[in-house]
Amino acid sequence: MRLLVCGGAGFIGSNFVRLRLREHGDEVAVLDKLTYAGREENFHDVVGDPGFSFVHAAIEDPEAVRGAIDAHAPEAIVNFAAETHVDRSIAEPDGFVRTHALGTHVLLEAARERELRYLQVSTDEVYGSIEDGSFTEDSPLRPSSPYSATKTGADLLVQSYFHTYGLQATICRGSNNYGAYQYPEKLIPLMILNAMHGDSLPVYGDGMQVRNWIHATDFARAIGHVLEHGTAGEVYNAGGPDECANIEVVRRVVELTGASEELIEYVTDRPGHDRRYSLSSAKVRALGWEPRVRFAEGLEQTVAWYRENRWWWEPVRSGDYRSYYERQYGKSLA
Ligand code: NAD
Ligand code: TYD
Repeated sequence: MRLLVCGGAGFIGSNFVRLRLREHGDEVAVLDKLTYAGREENFHDVVGDPGFSFVHAAIEDPEAVRGAIDAHAPEAIVNFAAETHVDRSIAEPDGFVRTHALGTHVLLEAARERELRYLQVSTDEVYGSIEDGSFTEDSPLRPSSPYSATKTGADLLVQSYFHTYGLQATICRGSNNYGAYQYPEKLIPLMILNAMHGDSLPVYGDGMQVRNWIHATDFARAIGHVLEHGTAGEVYNAGGPDECANIEVVRRVVELTGASEELIEYVTDRPGHDRRYSLSSAKVRALGWEPRVRFAEGLEQTVAWYRENRWWWEPVRSGDYRSYYERQYGKSLA
């Protein structure tokens, strides 16, 4: 397939690009704005592949999007491009509205005009929090943060393009991802790098919030699977095989890095913090996808990757991330 992968310079997008080039022989053009979270380093190992090309542009720029489509003639657009951190959406929601509402609209218009297939990468956070059981694709949408609310808006716009214009669109909603190349603002890489440096490990509230962890390579395979086998107009959930309370995740990171448990520090809770996420993936499993990586094994591999790839995170941890960290946590990194 020829794909235009928007947001392909980010964490999950770059895992997806690697998978499609290496295992499926696709031609992949990445279109990415390179925000703080988008880095060319994320696809360093595939830039020389003959099927790979890169366009530095924003999805909310209609001319740039049309130009990329003219140049690369994709059969489908896969949209990962997003602002993705809940804490940043609480502090500064503007960019979330711009990228998720305006950006998604520009891509949908381009897909409609050129009659391309479209896949929107989405999140379990659109369903809100669940105490018991798991969300299905028919669960009500009850997002609670500016991040999840704007992602929900984008999903609804995608569905409207299917219903109104017959756009061949699908949506794939993932649970919490982890793995190589994740920006260290997120729980797992933040805890790994802080533990490696002897920085404190900030656990929000009582640490008993539960997340449903999926390895980014499993989510990338699910997205490819939905693109190939999904039915237009449908939503598919892709949840990981394991759930874990945050404090347990942090304790495992402490063990795997050999850090001291005394680094764990309970800090003020996130406003509006969702207690638990859990996704039922029966629908995409019925299409033949299943996750391959269990959390215990994947977490161990992820810790090893961060240990072995200082070149990747050192520039991040010594750059703007330091001032973000100070604003968010009220203290400096070592
Ligand atoms: P990320 O923050 O690592 O990467 C986002 C990418 O999008 C970056 O490369 C950034 O430069 C790019 N981008 C942002 N705004 C853009 C714009 N306006 N135009 C073009 N490019 C832009 O994010 P991620 O964790 O890889 O998430 C990718 C997608 O998966 C998002 O849509 C997110 O909502 C969804 N998702 C993430 C998770 C998770 O746990 N990380 C779980 C489920 C779904
Ligand atoms: P995060 O990685 O931000 O993902 P999301 O909010 O999309 O689930 O956070 C995962 C969980 O970890 C969430 O319950 C918030 C919690 N958390 C902390 O306790 N401390 C932290 O420093 C961070 C970043 C997150």
